[in-house]
Amino acid sequence: PRIYIVTPTHTRLTQKADLTRLSYTLRLVPNIRWIVVEDADQPSDIVKNLLASSELHYTHLFAKTRPESLKKTAERWRPHRGVDQRNEAIRWIRQNAKQTGVVYFADDDNTYDIRLFEEVVGWHTSLPRNISTDMAGFAVSLQLLDDNAGAQFRATAASGYLEADFIKQLGVTLSDLEPRAEECTKVLVWHTKTEKSSIKNEALILKWYNYTSDPNIEV
Ligand code: UGA
Ligand code: MN
Repeated sequence: PRIYIVTPTHTRLTQKADLTRLSYTLRLVPNIRWIVVEDADQPSDIVKNLLASSELHYTHLFAKTRPESLKKTAERWRPHRGVDQRNEAIRWIRQNAKQTGVVYFADDDNTYDIRLFEEVVGWHTSLPRNISTDMAGFAVSLQLLDDNAGAQFRATAASGYLEADFIKQLGVTLSDLEPRAEECTKVLVWHTKTEKSSIKNEALILKWYNYTSDPNIEV
């Protein structure tokens, strides 16, 4: 079976670094399709070039986060991220995926042990006790996605419940889950965050030496 790896991504100074790291991880995993969805109105050259040189099977999509997804509610202390992008990927998968397979949601800045992807094949969700998992903690069979055609990520989900809200729509209950990674005793994915980078010294270079870095060099 094929693994469809869905990655929402947005423009920032560290985007290329994060996507480069993830792409090198994915090079080590057989039979995947990397579905990268930009939070943008159009595809960017940075992502286009990165994918073209990635040596991976990929699909490049884009979906700008809708203003509704950013609305504040009592249940959310901050908007969920990557919702409209993951839904765009699900739409594409339902329409285009022919083989059997599973879908895994891999944010662009996490760290993935490649053994995770051996675990992914053949399971729906891998969760501790309740359906309270991070995005990186479960995968969904393609069959289940097709059987529940209306299931999608909902920006209106309460904080911390984006994943559970989605999984419930798939009709999955606790007993349906297939725990992986030796009964959830092995950690195969890390929620890492790249530090926000600063280019404030650019202003100093301009002020002190009266020149700037070459803006045509991709960072
Ligand atoms: C945590 C969870 O691990 C995510 O799965 C969850 O979507 C997110 O919280 C949430 O708030 O909804 P966190 O590291 O805090 O993740 O979030 P980010 O890594 O900043 O964003 C998650 C994904 O959405 C990333 O792939 C990121 O590139 C993308 N994103 C983020 C966008 O597409 N647009 C944005 O404006 C921000
Ligand atoms: Mn993250």
